[in-house]
Amino acid sequence: MSSKHDILTDSFGRKHTYLRISLTERCNLRCSYCMPQEGVPLLPKDHLMNAKEIFEISKLFVEAGVNKIRFTGGEPLLRKDFPQILEQLGTLPVSMSITTNGITIDRYIDLLKKHQVKTINLSLDTLDAEKFKKVTFRDYFQRVYDNIFRLIAEGFHVKINVVLMKGVNDDEIVEFINFTKTHPVTVRFIEFMPFDGNQWNREKTVSYNDVLAKVHQHFDDDAIIRLQDAPHDTTKNFKIVGHLGTFGIIGTVTNPFCDTCNRIRLTANGQLKNCLFSATESDLLTPLRAGKDITPIIQKAVFGKFAMRGGLSTPEQFEDPKEHTENRSMIRIGG
Ligand code: 5AD
Ligand code: SF4
Repeated sequence: MSSKHDILTDSFGRKHTYLRISLTERCNLRCSYCMPQEGVPLLPKDHLMNAKEIFEISKLFVEAGVNKIRFTGGEPLLRKDFPQILEQLGTLPVSMSITTNGITIDRYIDLLKKHQVKTINLSLDTLDAEKFKKVTFRDYFQRVYDNIFRLIAEGFHVKINVVLMKGVNDDEIVEFINFTKTHPVTVRFIEFMPFDGNQWNREKTVSYNDVLAKVHQHFDDDAIIRLQDAPHDTTKNFKIVGHLGTFGIIGTVTNPFCDTCNRIRLTANGQLKNCLFSATESDLLTPLRAGKDITPIIQKAVFGKFAMRGGLSTPEQFEDPKEHTENRSMIRIGG
């Protein structure tokens, strides 16, 4: 009775057409909001999905209705077989995109173009090279910065992800918006979210309203335009009149957007997560390796998705760090 499409529809009628695949838990940066201070124990390679398994699982999802796949990490470009993964998935009727820290993306420009990757989501939390070192514990600012311009010159649309943290980079909101004046990028301010081991507390989060207050302090009300958001967009988008680029705010903490969620996640070791904040996972890789049909597992995982933030609906629940210890650290989910 049920078509394959139905396996991606949850009990609230949300259709999951967007699959985010983490390709690795490794990263060449150490952003404190993502990576626990003590690091993460690296999984042995044979616990990770290989390129063929990524293809097989993706094919199943695409047949069931997924039309967009994003590669995340850690840093997805650290996967040596990234070109093969892209080549294989490129044979499926699905659009592909990537979230990267941008350090080595210049090496992949031709490959990404060949596979019609048009938008690059690139993480950059500060426009100050010294601060970059403090946030990421690495000295790669210039490479990332130069790569933004290389990508623009090559015709990519660059979305810059900025995780805002009070006292760290909230003094750069206006600077980032000014960056959109002459550069056709989208800057996305992301509310700092709690994950296992990232020392989150509510006071460190710069909220959607905080950002807008700063914007209104600096720019005339008439100059700030609220743009129309794409369906399922997690970002509330804005533009300053006359700027080439745009900016937006992702308000997971204070303005959740779960009711229009179409995203589902696959971790590098082949575990399906029905929500960024879910405390449970469904193992797809072990049964796949055993030659079993994983369709019923996917269906059950999707159907069991909570209405909101992995069941942490109230601010009190969501803001309790203890509620997040059952979840992974962000580096092991991939955003
Ligand atoms: N809160 C908000 N965003 C985060 N990211 C990583 N950790 C967090 C966090 N704790 C973002 C990164 C990257 C994307 C994959 O997720 O900036 O752009
Ligand atoms: Fe690496 Fe991105 Fe995590 Fe920073 S946020 S440590 S760049 S995966």
